[in-house]
Amino acid sequence: MQALPGFRDFYPLECSKRHFIFKTWRAVATRYGFTEFDGPPLEPLELYTKKSGAEIIGQLYHFKDKGDREVSLRPEMTPTFARMVAARHKDFKKPMKWFAIPQLFRYERQQKGRLREHFQFNADIVGASLPGEDAEIIALAADILREFNLTSADFQVRLSSREVWRDILTANGIPEEKHADVFGVIDKIERVAPGESEKKLLALALEPATATRILDASEIRSADALPMSHGVERLTQTLASLSAMGLGEYVTLDLRIVRGLAYYSGTVFEIFAKNSQGEPTGRAIAGGGRYDNLLLNLAGVDLPAAGFGMGDVVLGDLLEEKNLYPQNVDGPEKIFVARLSAAQETAALELVSELRRAGWAVEYSFRLAGFNKQFEQARNCGAAWAIVCDDKIQQGLLEVKDLRTRSQETVAKNALTDYLKSKKQG
Ligand code: HAM
Repeated sequence: MQALPGFRDFYPLECSKRHFIFKTWRAVATRYGFTEFDGPPLEPLELYTKKSGAEIIGQLYHFKDKGDREVSLRPEMTPTFARMVAARHKDFKKPMKWFAIPQLFRYERQQKGRLREHFQFNADIVGASLPGEDAEIIALAADILREFNLTSADFQVRLSSREVWRDILTANGIPEEKHADVFGVIDKIERVAPGESEKKLLALALEPATATRILDASEIRSADALPMSHGVERLTQTLASLSAMGLGEYVTLDLRIVRGLAYYSGTVFEIFAKNSQGEPTGRAIAGGGRYDNLLLNLAGVDLPAAGFGMGDVVLGDLLEEKNLYPQNVDGPEKIFVARLSAAQETAALELVSELRRAGWAVEYSFRLAGFNKQFEQARNCGAAWAIVCDDKIQQGLLEVKDLRTRSQETVAKNALTDYLKSKKQG
């Protein structure tokens, strides 16, 4: 029997790669001062039907539990985060900077980079509403990707603002109750055939000239092309902070970005993978933005917030394509301890235990086997070295064979770990 479509089996190598991604996410988030939290994978259905927006609601894995409750597997972490913060925000100093690595479930149409479950790094800041915070979350996302050795040839951050968009829509006489629908059209501009977006805007009863002006606005790629406003000033400050952080080359202003989720209120951004020619693809590595009203609408707590999510699927594909997983992703360099005969049994077990307690990864044959058999086992378990306990162990000497170079040296037992350290690769 196979796993369900869109669900992954993680065999040991895939699990090692997943750990590598998680470890990097955690390391960079911690450097930025974020602390980890977690929440339940199953939530009341209402948490999502209230605030996530139509697209995600259509993708929910939801059902009635045995207590007749309407429940859903979490399709995203932000509602859980908002619920948890709203319940205990008084216990925490602001700004709160939290991250999480939940597994999320969305019944999506399967395609490259999109599955029905994925792990998503989330980092969010609650408590103030400054452009500097927007810059902080974008910088964290970009620095995570840099930490994986991805460069500006591999990804691009596209920055935009719903606040700026609201001003544009209002200036064009589009009433607020239509804004969400217009955002829905802009969000899909790049995924539909030319002419399709205009048709959709006209179907929302926009005048043809207004529809044209909205589509023209989506072509804006510079703050200078926009009339000065609060939203534009914020964007300009965010861009300036990112430049000061040395990240200017990764970020471009791009008004085609509005984000699909309903709760975003201000700055929004999305990070896209580039192809081998350095051109942006439609594959989103991360996305996020400011959602200053979600906590208020969900739980009556007036706290501004901003954050982003970065999935493991597109990122993992990119690391694979660019050959950026470390050579020893499946674990540290291993040592195999071999012994020649039953006379070295105790000495070999002592050595195995000493090395393991000193932090080395060590394997040995449970059964006393022939020498060739033991070497075969050493190679099968991917060992970098074989240490042979033979008669010389009585004089405190060991034979150390480097299985990669096939060179061999006699090493004093009390100098063994220093010797191995000096030969360690990576
Ligand atoms: P999102 O744009 O829906 O945002 O997801 C963020 C990232 O998660 C995407 O850019 C993509 O890499 C990954 N992702 C999403 N769905 C899938 C899928 N079906 N398969 C594989 N990867 C996927 C959110 O979820 C927001 N809650 C993020 C956020 C946090 N906003 C503020 N704080």
